Amino acid sequence: MAQSDIIVAIDVGTTKVCTLVAEARQPGKMSIIGIGNVPSQGIRKGVVVNIEETISSISASLEEAERMAGYPIDSAFISIGGGHISSLNSRGVIAVSRADGEITHEDVARVIEAAQAISLPMNREVLHVLPRNFVVDGQEGVQNPAGMTGVRLEVETHVVNAASSAVRNLAKCVAQTGVEVEEIVMSPLAAAEAVLNQDDKELGVCLLDIGGGSTDIAIFVEGSIWHSTVLPIGSSHITNDLAIGLRVPFAVAEKIKKEAYQPITVFEEGTLFEDVSKNGDSIDLDAYGVEKGGLVARESLNQIVEARLNEIFDMVAKEIKKSGQQGLLAGGVVLTGGGSLLPGISEVAKVNLGLPSRIGKPLNVLGLTDGIESPAFVTPVGLILWGIKAREQRELIRVSPMQMWFTGFGKIRKWVKKSFFP
Ligand SMILES: Nc1ncnc2c1ncn2[C@@H]1O[C@H](COP(=O)(O)OP(=O)(O)OP(=O)(O)O)[C@@H](O)[C@H]1O
Ligand SMILES: [Mg+2]
Repeated sequence: MAQSDIIVAIDVGTTKVCTLVAEARQPGKMSIIGIGNVPSQGIRKGVVVNIEETISSISASLEEAERMAGYPIDSAFISIGGGHISSLNSRGVIAVSRADGEITHEDVARVIEAAQAISLPMNREVLHVLPRNFVVDGQEGVQNPAGMTGVRLEVETHVVNAASSAVRNLAKCVAQTGVEVEEIVMSPLAAAEAVLNQDDKELGVCLLDIGGGSTDIAIFVEGSIWHSTVLPIGSSHITNDLAIGLRVPFAVAEKIKKEAYQPITVFEEGTLFEDVSKNGDSIDLDAYGVEKGGLVARESLNQIVEARLNEIFDMVAKEIKKSGQQGLLAGGVVLTGGGSLLPGISEVAKVNLGLPSRIGKPLNVLGLTDGIESPAFVTPVGLILWGIKAREQRELIRVSPMQMWFTGFGKIRKWVKKSFFP
Protein backbone atom coordinates (compact mmCIF):
# COMPACT_ATOMS: atom_id res chain seq x y z
CA MET A 1 0.00 0.00 0.00
CA ALA A 2 1.41 3.39 -0.92
CA GLN A 3 2.11 5.54 2.10
CA SER A 4 0.04 8.38 0.65
CA ASP A 5 -3.04 6.12 0.73
CA ILE A 6 -2.89 5.98 4.52
CA ILE A 7 -4.13 8.82 6.64
CA VAL A 8 -3.95 8.99 10.42
CA ALA A 9 -5.92 11.12 12.89
CA ILE A 10 -5.27 11.53 16.61
CA ASP A 11 -8.09 13.08 18.62
CA VAL A 12 -6.53 14.14 21.90
CA GLY A 13 -9.61 14.52 24.09
CA THR A 14 -10.14 15.09 27.80
CA THR A 15 -11.50 11.60 28.41
CA LYS A 16 -10.05 9.58 25.53
CA VAL A 17 -7.22 9.66 23.02
CA CYS A 18 -8.46 8.09 19.83
CA THR A 19 -6.18 7.26 16.89
CA LEU A 20 -7.75 6.22 13.61
CA VAL A 21 -5.83 4.81 10.68
CA ALA A 22 -7.72 5.07 7.40
CA GLU A 23 -7.12 4.10 3.85
CA ALA A 24 -8.05 6.83 1.39
CA ARG A 25 -7.78 5.44 -2.09
CA GLN A 26 -10.53 7.46 -3.78
CA PRO A 27 -11.01 11.20 -3.31
CA GLY A 28 -13.33 11.89 -0.39
CA LYS A 29 -13.74 8.20 0.53
CA MET A 30 -12.05 6.36 3.34
CA SER A 31 -12.07 3.06 5.10
CA ILE A 32 -10.93 2.64 8.70
CA ILE A 33 -8.25 -0.04 9.12
CA GLY A 34 -7.03 0.68 12.65
CA ILE A 35 -8.46 2.10 15.89
CA GLY A 36 -6.60 2.91 19.07
CA ASN A 37 -8.88 4.20 21.79
CA VAL A 38 -7.48 4.67 25.30
CA PRO A 39 -8.53 6.73 28.34
CA SER A 40 -6.65 10.01 28.31
CA GLN A 41 -4.46 11.33 31.06
CA GLY A 42 -2.69 14.64 31.33
CA ILE A 43 -5.44 16.60 29.51
CA ARG A 44 -7.85 18.90 31.31
CA LYS A 45 -10.68 20.77 29.58
CA GLY A 46 -9.05 19.92 26.25
CA VAL A 47 -5.63 21.31 27.19
CA VAL A 48 -2.36 19.51 27.98
CA VAL A 49 -1.66 19.91 31.70
CA ASN A 50 0.88 17.10 32.10
CA ILE A 51 3.31 16.44 29.25
CA GLU A 52 4.51 13.00 30.43
CA GLU A 53 1.01 11.63 30.97
CA THR A 54 -0.21 13.02 27.65
CA ILE A 55 2.73 11.45 25.78
CA SER A 56 2.05 8.06 27.33
CA SER A 57 -1.69 8.26 26.49
CA ILE A 58 -0.91 9.20 22.88
CA SER A 59 1.72 6.42 22.66
CA ALA A 60 -0.72 3.82 24.00
CA SER A 61 -3.36 4.92 21.52
CA LEU A 62 -0.85 4.86 18.62
CA GLU A 63 0.38 1.39 19.54
CA GLU A 64 -3.13 -0.03 19.62
CA ALA A 65 -3.98 1.51 16.23
CA GLU A 66 -0.65 0.40 14.67
CA ARG A 67 -1.17 -3.16 15.88
CA MET A 68 -4.65 -3.31 14.41
CA ALA A 69 -3.70 -1.67 11.12
CA GLY A 70 -0.36 -3.48 10.79
CA TYR A 71 1.12 -0.15 9.75
CA PRO A 72 3.78 1.99 11.47
CA ILE A 73 2.43 5.52 11.97
CA ASP A 74 4.83 8.30 11.05
CA SER A 75 2.56 11.30 10.57
CA ALA A 76 -0.91 12.35 11.69
CA PHE A 77 -3.57 15.05 11.76
CA ILE A 78 -4.16 16.18 15.35
CA SER A 79 -7.23 17.78 16.95
CA ILE A 80 -6.94 20.67 19.38
CA GLY A 81 -9.61 21.83 21.82
CA GLY A 82 -9.78 24.02 24.90
CA GLY A 83 -11.30 27.29 26.03
CA HIS A 84 -8.24 29.23 24.81
CA ILE A 85 -9.42 28.91 21.19
CA SER A 86 -11.35 31.79 19.68
CA SER A 87 -12.34 32.96 16.23
CA LEU A 88 -13.21 36.11 14.35
CA ASN A 89 -14.22 37.05 10.84
CA SER A 90 -11.78 39.26 9.01
CA ARG A 91 -11.89 41.01 5.66
CA GLY A 92 -8.99 41.52 3.28
CA VAL A 93 -8.92 44.01 0.40
CA ILE A 94 -6.39 44.47 -2.43
CA ALA A 95 -6.14 46.19 -5.80
CA VAL A 96 -5.94 43.69 -8.67
CA SER A 97 -2.36 43.69 -9.93
CA ARG A 98 -2.66 43.14 -13.69
CA ALA A 99 -3.23 46.15 -15.91
CA ASP A 100 -5.95 44.32 -17.88
CA GLY A 101 -7.82 43.61 -14.61
CA GLU A 102 -7.66 39.81 -14.78
CA ILE A 103 -7.51 38.37 -11.26
CA THR A 104 -4.62 35.97 -10.90
CA HIS A 105 -4.11 33.22 -8.34
CA GLU A 106 -1.37 35.37 -6.82
CA ASP A 107 -3.97 38.12 -6.22
CA VAL A 108 -6.14 35.55 -4.46
CA ALA A 109 -3.25 34.43 -2.25
CA ARG A 110 -2.43 38.09 -1.55
CA VAL A 111 -5.96 39.01 -0.50
CA ILE A 112 -6.10 36.07 1.93
CA GLU A 113 -2.75 37.18 3.29
CA ALA A 114 -4.24 40.66 3.76
CA ALA A 115 -7.22 39.21 5.70
CA GLN A 116 -4.80 37.56 8.13
CA ALA A 117 -3.35 40.89 9.13
CA ILE A 118 -5.14 41.02 12.47
CA SER A 119 -3.51 42.16 15.66
CA LEU A 120 -3.17 39.36 18.16
CA PRO A 121 -1.46 39.42 21.55
CA MET A 122 2.09 37.99 21.54
CA ASN A 123 1.00 34.74 23.18
CA ARG A 124 -1.59 33.86 20.52
CA GLU A 125 -1.27 32.27 17.09
CA VAL A 126 -3.42 31.92 14.01
CA LEU A 127 -4.51 28.31 13.58
CA HIS A 128 -6.80 28.51 10.52
CA VAL A 129 -7.66 31.10 7.89
CA LEU A 130 -10.74 29.86 6.06
CA PRO A 131 -12.00 31.93 3.11
CA ARG A 132 -15.79 32.30 3.30
CA ASN A 133 -16.41 34.13 0.08
CA PHE A 134 -14.88 36.67 -2.27
CA VAL A 135 -16.15 40.05 -3.48
CA VAL A 136 -15.08 41.38 -6.90
CA ASP A 137 -15.78 45.10 -7.44
CA GLY A 138 -18.64 44.94 -4.95
CA GLN A 139 -20.17 41.72 -6.32
CA GLU A 140 -20.59 39.38 -3.34
CA GLY A 141 -20.73 35.60 -3.16
CA VAL A 142 -17.90 34.81 -5.59
CA GLN A 143 -16.52 31.32 -4.90
CA ASN A 144 -13.43 31.45 -7.10
CA PRO A 145 -12.38 34.85 -8.40
CA ALA A 146 -9.28 33.67 -10.31
CA GLY A 147 -9.73 34.44 -14.01
CA MET A 148 -12.48 37.03 -13.40
CA THR A 149 -11.95 40.67 -14.25
CA GLY A 150 -12.05 43.48 -11.71
CA VAL A 151 -10.19 46.27 -10.02
CA ARG A 152 -10.83 45.57 -6.35
CA LEU A 153 -10.72 42.10 -4.76
CA GLU A 154 -12.04 41.44 -1.26
CA VAL A 155 -12.31 38.27 0.80
CA GLU A 156 -14.22 37.40 3.95
CA THR A 157 -12.35 34.88 6.07
CA HIS A 158 -12.91 33.01 9.30
CA VAL A 159 -9.74 33.22 11.38
CA VAL A 160 -9.24 30.78 14.25
CA ASN A 161 -6.58 31.61 16.81
CA ALA A 162 -5.28 29.82 19.86
CA ALA A 163 -2.92 30.20 22.80
CA SER A 164 0.59 29.49 21.48
CA SER A 165 1.58 27.56 24.59
CA ALA A 166 -1.37 25.15 24.29
CA VAL A 167 -0.64 24.51 20.59
CA ARG A 168 3.08 24.04 21.19
CA ASN A 169 2.59 21.72 24.15
CA LEU A 170 0.27 19.49 22.15
CA ALA A 171 2.63 19.44 19.15
CA LYS A 172 5.52 18.66 21.49
CA CYS A 173 3.69 15.67 22.99
CA VAL A 174 2.92 14.25 19.53
CA ALA A 175 6.47 14.88 18.30
CA GLN A 176 7.85 13.06 21.37
CA THR A 177 6.04 9.91 20.25
CA GLY A 178 7.99 10.04 16.98
CA VAL A 179 5.01 11.11 14.89
CA GLU A 180 5.17 14.12 12.55
CA VAL A 181 2.30 16.59 12.90
CA GLU A 182 0.71 16.98 9.46
CA GLU A 183 -1.66 19.62 10.72
CA ILE A 184 -3.32 20.75 13.94
CA VAL A 185 -7.06 21.17 13.44
CA MET A 186 -9.51 22.89 15.77
CA SER A 187 -11.79 20.09 16.98
CA PRO A 188 -15.23 21.58 16.11
CA LEU A 189 -14.09 22.05 12.50
CA ALA A 190 -13.07 18.39 12.38
CA ALA A 191 -16.36 17.25 13.96
CA ALA A 192 -18.33 19.31 11.42
CA GLU A 193 -16.59 17.48 8.56
CA ALA A 194 -17.99 14.18 9.81
CA VAL A 195 -21.65 15.06 10.39
CA LEU A 196 -22.69 18.11 8.40
CA ASN A 197 -23.47 18.13 4.72
CA GLN A 198 -23.50 21.16 2.43
CA ASP A 199 -27.31 21.50 2.73
CA ASP A 200 -27.04 21.85 6.53
CA LYS A 201 -24.39 24.53 6.07
CA GLU A 202 -26.47 26.43 3.49
CA LEU A 203 -29.55 26.35 5.76
CA GLY A 204 -27.57 27.54 8.77
CA VAL A 205 -26.61 25.03 11.44
CA CYS A 206 -24.91 24.86 14.82
CA LEU A 207 -22.70 21.88 15.59
CA LEU A 208 -22.32 21.16 19.32
CA ASP A 209 -19.80 18.52 20.34
CA ILE A 210 -20.28 17.86 24.05
CA GLY A 211 -17.13 16.09 25.19
CA GLY A 212 -15.84 15.20 28.63
CA GLY A 213 -14.20 18.50 29.51
CA SER A 214 -15.37 20.88 26.81
CA THR A 215 -18.18 21.75 24.43
CA ASP A 216 -17.17 22.58 20.87
CA ILE A 217 -19.29 24.98 18.83
CA ALA A 218 -19.19 25.53 15.07
CA ILE A 219 -21.85 27.70 13.42
CA PHE A 220 -22.25 27.60 9.63
CA VAL A 221 -24.34 30.05 7.60
CA GLU A 222 -24.72 30.48 3.86
CA GLY A 223 -22.57 27.43 3.25
CA SER A 224 -19.51 28.34 5.26
CA ILE A 225 -18.15 28.64 8.78
CA TRP A 226 -19.27 31.79 10.59
CA HIS A 227 -18.37 31.26 14.24
CA SER A 228 -16.38 28.66 16.13
CA THR A 229 -15.30 28.32 19.73
CA VAL A 230 -14.69 25.85 22.56
CA LEU A 231 -16.44 26.24 25.93
CA PRO A 232 -14.51 24.85 28.91
CA ILE A 233 -17.44 22.83 30.24
CA GLY A 234 -18.52 19.31 29.32
CA SER A 235 -20.26 16.13 30.37
CA SER A 236 -17.70 15.24 33.08
CA HIS A 237 -18.95 18.30 34.98
CA ILE A 238 -22.29 16.46 35.26
CA THR A 239 -20.42 13.43 36.63
CA ASN A 240 -18.57 15.62 39.13
CA ASP A 241 -21.83 17.14 40.35
CA LEU A 242 -23.32 13.65 40.78
CA ALA A 243 -20.24 12.47 42.68
CA ILE A 244 -20.56 15.41 45.08
CA GLY A 245 -24.36 15.44 45.30
CA LEU A 246 -24.77 11.69 45.86
CA ARG A 247 -21.49 11.35 47.84
CA VAL A 248 -20.20 8.57 45.59
CA PRO A 249 -16.82 8.06 43.85
CA PHE A 250 -16.39 9.61 40.37
CA ALA A 251 -16.42 6.18 38.66
CA VAL A 252 -19.75 5.30 40.33
CA ALA A 253 -21.21 8.67 39.39
CA GLU A 254 -20.12 8.08 35.79
CA LYS A 255 -21.91 4.71 35.77
CA ILE A 256 -25.06 6.22 37.28
CA LYS A 257 -25.04 9.02 34.71
CA LYS A 258 -24.71 6.57 31.83
CA GLU A 259 -27.03 3.84 33.07
CA ALA A 260 -29.57 5.28 35.50
CA TYR A 261 -30.40 8.78 34.31
CA GLN A 262 -33.75 9.00 32.53
CA PRO A 263 -35.55 12.32 32.06
CA ILE A 264 -38.95 12.61 33.74
CA THR A 265 -40.01 15.52 31.60
CA VAL A 266 -40.23 14.56 27.96
CA PHE A 267 -40.63 16.89 25.01
CA GLU A 268 -42.57 15.34 22.17
CA GLU A 269 -44.28 16.81 19.14
CA GLY A 270 -43.77 20.33 20.36
CA THR A 271 -45.09 19.89 23.92
CA LEU A 272 -43.58 19.08 27.26
CA PHE A 273 -45.14 16.37 29.38
CA GLU A 274 -44.23 14.38 32.46
CA ASP A 275 -43.53 10.68 32.17
CA VAL A 276 -45.59 9.86 35.28
CA SER A 277 -44.36 6.26 35.30
CA LYS A 278 -40.98 7.64 36.43
CA ASN A 279 -42.39 9.83 39.22
CA GLY A 280 -41.65 8.47 42.67
CA ASP A 281 -39.07 6.21 41.07
CA SER A 282 -35.77 5.70 42.90
CA ILE A 283 -32.25 4.45 42.19
CA ASP A 284 -30.62 1.87 44.46
CA LEU A 285 -27.01 2.97 45.01
CA ASP A 286 -26.12 -0.49 46.38
CA ALA A 287 -26.67 -1.83 42.85
CA TYR A 288 -23.86 0.49 41.72
CA GLY A 289 -21.45 -0.90 44.29
CA VAL A 290 -21.97 1.73 47.02
CA GLU A 291 -22.08 -0.09 50.33
CA LYS A 292 -25.19 0.89 52.32
CA GLY A 293 -25.78 3.51 49.65
CA GLY A 294 -29.54 3.31 50.00
CA LEU A 295 -32.11 4.78 47.65
CA VAL A 296 -31.93 8.08 45.81
CA ALA A 297 -35.13 9.61 44.46
CA ARG A 298 -35.04 9.96 40.67
CA GLU A 299 -36.14 13.59 41.07
CA SER A 300 -32.96 14.34 43.09
CA LEU A 301 -30.72 12.61 40.57
CA ASN A 302 -32.42 14.41 37.70
CA GLN A 303 -32.20 17.78 39.42
CA ILE A 304 -28.41 17.44 39.62
CA VAL A 305 -28.01 16.34 35.98
CA GLU A 306 -30.47 18.84 34.56
CA ALA A 307 -29.09 21.83 36.48
CA ARG A 308 -25.69 21.32 34.84
CA LEU A 309 -27.22 20.54 31.43
CA ASN A 310 -29.19 23.77 31.58
CA GLU A 311 -26.00 25.64 32.47
CA ILE A 312 -24.19 24.14 29.45
CA PHE A 313 -27.06 25.09 27.11
CA ASP A 314 -27.31 28.58 28.63
CA MET A 315 -23.65 29.11 27.74
CA VAL A 316 -24.28 27.73 24.25
CA ALA A 317 -27.31 30.03 23.81
CA LYS A 318 -25.14 33.01 24.74
CA GLU A 319 -22.52 31.97 22.14
CA ILE A 320 -25.19 31.59 19.45
CA LYS A 321 -26.56 35.02 20.37
CA LYS A 322 -23.05 36.47 20.28
CA SER A 323 -22.62 35.10 16.76
CA GLY A 324 -25.63 37.18 15.69
CA GLN A 325 -27.11 34.22 13.79
CA GLN A 326 -29.72 32.94 16.27
CA GLY A 327 -32.62 33.63 13.93
CA LEU A 328 -30.89 32.13 10.91
CA LEU A 329 -30.19 28.56 11.92
CA ALA A 330 -32.95 26.73 10.04
CA GLY A 331 -30.83 23.58 10.06
CA GLY A 332 -30.97 23.66 13.88
CA VAL A 333 -28.49 22.08 16.24
CA VAL A 334 -26.54 18.88 15.61
CA LEU A 335 -25.32 17.30 18.85
CA THR A 336 -22.25 15.08 18.92
CA GLY A 337 -19.59 13.97 21.43
CA GLY A 338 -19.94 11.39 24.19
CA GLY A 339 -22.10 13.87 26.13
CA SER A 340 -24.79 13.70 23.44
CA LEU A 341 -25.48 10.07 24.46
CA LEU A 342 -27.30 11.27 27.59
CA PRO A 343 -30.99 10.29 27.23
CA GLY A 344 -33.27 13.20 26.35
CA ILE A 345 -30.45 15.66 25.62
CA SER A 346 -31.75 16.48 22.17
CA GLU A 347 -35.08 17.58 23.70
CA VAL A 348 -33.29 19.71 26.29
CA ALA A 349 -31.35 21.38 23.45
CA LYS A 350 -34.59 22.01 21.54
CA VAL A 351 -36.27 23.65 24.53
CA ASN A 352 -33.26 25.66 25.76
CA LEU A 353 -32.05 26.86 22.39
CA GLY A 354 -35.42 27.12 20.64
CA LEU A 355 -34.01 25.29 17.61
CA PRO A 356 -34.63 21.93 15.97
CA SER A 357 -32.13 19.42 17.27
CA ARG A 358 -30.75 16.01 16.29
CA ILE A 359 -27.91 13.72 17.26
CA GLY A 360 -25.16 13.54 14.63
CA LYS A 361 -23.35 10.35 13.75
CA PRO A 362 -20.30 9.99 11.52
CA LEU A 363 -21.37 9.80 7.85
CA ASN A 364 -19.91 7.54 5.16
CA VAL A 365 -17.49 5.54 7.26
CA LEU A 366 -16.41 2.21 5.82
CA GLY A 367 -14.24 -0.59 7.18
CA LEU A 368 -13.78 -1.26 10.88
CA THR A 369 -16.74 0.72 12.06
CA ASP A 370 -17.46 -1.24 15.25
CA GLY A 371 -17.75 1.26 18.06
CA ILE A 372 -16.88 4.32 16.04
CA GLU A 373 -20.38 4.93 14.65
CA SER A 374 -21.06 6.54 18.03
CA PRO A 375 -21.35 10.36 18.21
CA ALA A 376 -18.33 10.18 20.58
CA PHE A 377 -16.06 9.42 17.59
CA VAL A 378 -17.21 12.20 15.31
CA THR A 379 -14.05 14.30 15.91
CA PRO A 380 -11.45 11.64 14.90
CA VAL A 381 -13.56 10.58 11.90
CA GLY A 382 -13.92 14.22 10.83
CA LEU A 383 -10.20 14.71 11.29
CA ILE A 384 -9.55 11.95 8.74
CA LEU A 385 -11.99 13.60 6.29
CA TRP A 386 -10.32 16.98 6.87
CA GLY A 387 -6.95 15.29 6.24
CA ILE A 388 -8.15 13.78 2.96
CA LYS A 389 -9.26 17.22 1.77
CA ALA A 390 -5.99 18.78 2.94
CA ARG A 391 -3.97 16.22 1.01
CA GLU A 392 -6.12 16.68 -2.11
CA GLN A 393 -5.49 20.37 -1.77
CA ARG A 394 -1.77 19.82 -1.55
CA GLU A 395 -1.97 17.66 -4.66
CA LEU A 396 -3.74 20.54 -6.41
CA ILE A 397 -1.06 22.89 -5.20
CA ARG A 398 1.54 20.64 -6.75
CA VAL A 399 -0.36 20.62 -10.04
CA SER A 400 -1.19 24.29 -9.84
CA PRO A 401 0.63 26.19 -7.10
CA MET A 402 -1.89 28.99 -7.50
CA GLN A 403 -4.76 27.01 -6.03
CA MET A 404 -3.45 27.31 -2.48
CA TRP A 405 -5.96 29.93 -1.44
CA PHE A 406 -8.79 27.43 -1.54
CA THR A 407 -8.58 26.52 2.11
CA GLY A 408 -5.25 27.77 3.26
CA PHE A 409 -4.26 24.18 4.06
CA GLY A 410 -0.84 24.59 2.46
CA LYS A 411 -0.10 27.63 4.50
CA ILE A 412 -1.12 25.98 7.74
CA ARG A 413 1.08 22.97 7.05
CA LYS A 414 4.02 25.26 6.38
CA TRP A 415 3.24 27.16 9.56
CA VAL A 416 3.13 23.98 11.65
CA LYS A 417 6.39 22.76 10.11
CA LYS A 418 8.06 26.12 10.65
CA SER A 419 6.82 26.44 14.22
CA PHE A 420 7.47 22.96 15.51
CA PHE A 421 9.97 21.28 13.21
CA PRO A 422 12.29 24.05 12.09
N1 LIG B 1 -23.86 6.57 27.24
C1 LIG B 1 -23.52 7.76 27.75
N2 LIG B 1 -24.43 8.53 28.40
C2 LIG B 1 -24.10 9.70 28.93
N3 LIG B 1 -22.86 10.25 28.83
C3 LIG B 1 -21.91 9.55 28.19
C4 LIG B 1 -22.19 8.27 27.61
N4 LIG B 1 -21.05 7.82 27.02
C5 LIG B 1 -20.11 8.76 27.24
N5 LIG B 1 -20.61 9.80 27.93
C6 LIG B 1 -19.89 10.99 28.40
O1 LIG B 1 -19.21 11.59 27.33
C7 LIG B 1 -18.03 12.24 27.83
C8 LIG B 1 -16.89 11.90 26.90
O2 LIG B 1 -17.17 12.38 25.63
P1 LIG B 1 -16.07 12.40 24.48
O3 LIG B 1 -15.51 11.06 24.31
O4 LIG B 1 -16.70 13.05 23.30
O5 LIG B 1 -15.01 13.37 25.17
P2 LIG B 1 -13.54 13.78 24.75
O6 LIG B 1 -13.48 13.96 23.28
O7 LIG B 1 -12.56 12.84 25.36
O8 LIG B 1 -13.39 15.16 25.51
P3 LIG B 1 -13.25 16.67 25.00
O9 LIG B 1 -13.78 16.73 23.63
O10 LIG B 1 -14.06 17.47 25.98
O11 LIG B 1 -11.80 17.00 25.13
C9 LIG B 1 -17.81 11.73 29.23
O12 LIG B 1 -18.10 12.75 30.18
C10 LIG B 1 -18.81 10.59 29.37
O13 LIG B 1 -19.34 10.48 30.66
MG1 LIG C 1 -13.78 15.54 21.94
